[in-house]
Amino acid sequence: MRWPGIVAAYRDLLPAAARVVTLGEGGTPLVPSPSLERRLGRPAWLKLEGCNPTGSFKDRGMTMAVSRALEAGARGVVCASTGNTAASAAAYAARAGLPCWIVLPAGAVARGKLVQASAHGARVVAVDAGFEAALDLAREAASERHVLVNSLNPMRLEGQATVAYELCEALGRPPAVVVLPVGNGGNITACWMGFRRWRDAGRCSALPRMVGVQAEGASPLIRGAPVERPQTVASAIRIGRPASWAGAVEAAAASGGRFVAVSDDDILAAQRALAGEGVFVEPASAAAYAGAGRLDPAVLPDGDVVCVLTGHGLKDPDAVPAPSPERVAATPEAVRALMEGGGGARWP
Ligand code: F0G
Repeated sequence: MRWPGIVAAYRDLLPAAARVVTLGEGGTPLVPSPSLERRLGRPAWLKLEGCNPTGSFKDRGMTMAVSRALEAGARGVVCASTGNTAASAAAYAARAGLPCWIVLPAGAVARGKLVQASAHGARVVAVDAGFEAALDLAREAASERHVLVNSLNPMRLEGQATVAYELCEALGRPPAVVVLPVGNGGNITACWMGFRRWRDAGRCSALPRMVGVQAEGASPLIRGAPVERPQTVASAIRIGRPASWAGAVEAAAASGGRFVAVSDDDILAAQRALAGEGVFVEPASAAAYAGAGRLDPAVLPDGDVVCVLTGHGLKDPDAVPAPSPERVAATPEAVRALMEGGGGARWP
């Protein structure tokens, strides 16, 4: 069956869109995580959001935001980004035939994401400031003609809520716990809204606990105060002043969940562990898996635990140690001799 994209798949739960700009986003795989299942003693799942068209969950929101902008007669779209929003906005704007303007924190965006944005023809502006200042700028520069497509745009959250619908459908009920990385706070806000919508539509009665994971050096929601110069290897969530602060706090509190901080070492170890299960994610997404591993099985509710893996590993190739292929003579004997030596691929 052809997957039609989230707007057509969940038309009854989304605001109407006259003309849909879609790249077939959503419908992403939900695969078991044997390692997390062993650790937590419960069914544990990985939602592979890196399988979206531009390699991150942002596409769910962007189909809605760009469709609506086009419908409203916008001349272009604008956003600030740590990288994935930029790549997604650039792709959907290209699809819609709209110019796309992107404001980035200079030197702080992963290579794969920058390449994507320029490949789709976006105009990229870098500022000597953090993401927070870039967002302030984009917000002030935006207008009815140039629509802001950051998650402050309510259409973005509507679209991103659909990950909750997919999880409820795939499992036949809501998960007991959903773990996801938190940067600007939009995604945890949207996901929680999605579960409540599903319940309010009479499709389930229970709701999951929402666990938000931040990097230790960029953990304003755990500290309860903005972080002036956020630092972490997970550049996607290097944010010290989340725009959706209130929504994120509400999601964790109202659901009986919490926020967890993980170190950069934890994040990189988690990235390696997931890769060892065949799933390659960028560091921000690995943070969710690291955070899930911190949960105490003794106090976890029964039921499914889902880790939302927000972005593909190819987004940020520089986060992984450079590969060093073993050099051999170009003969079958030489290659066979190596293989007979045993061992599979190694993380360098
Ligand atoms: N994971 C990835 C891979 C992200 O790119 C982001 C955010 C998050 C998690 C956190 O989501 O901000 O809604 O709490 N990236 C934004 C961007 C900030 O500009 O691409 P959030």
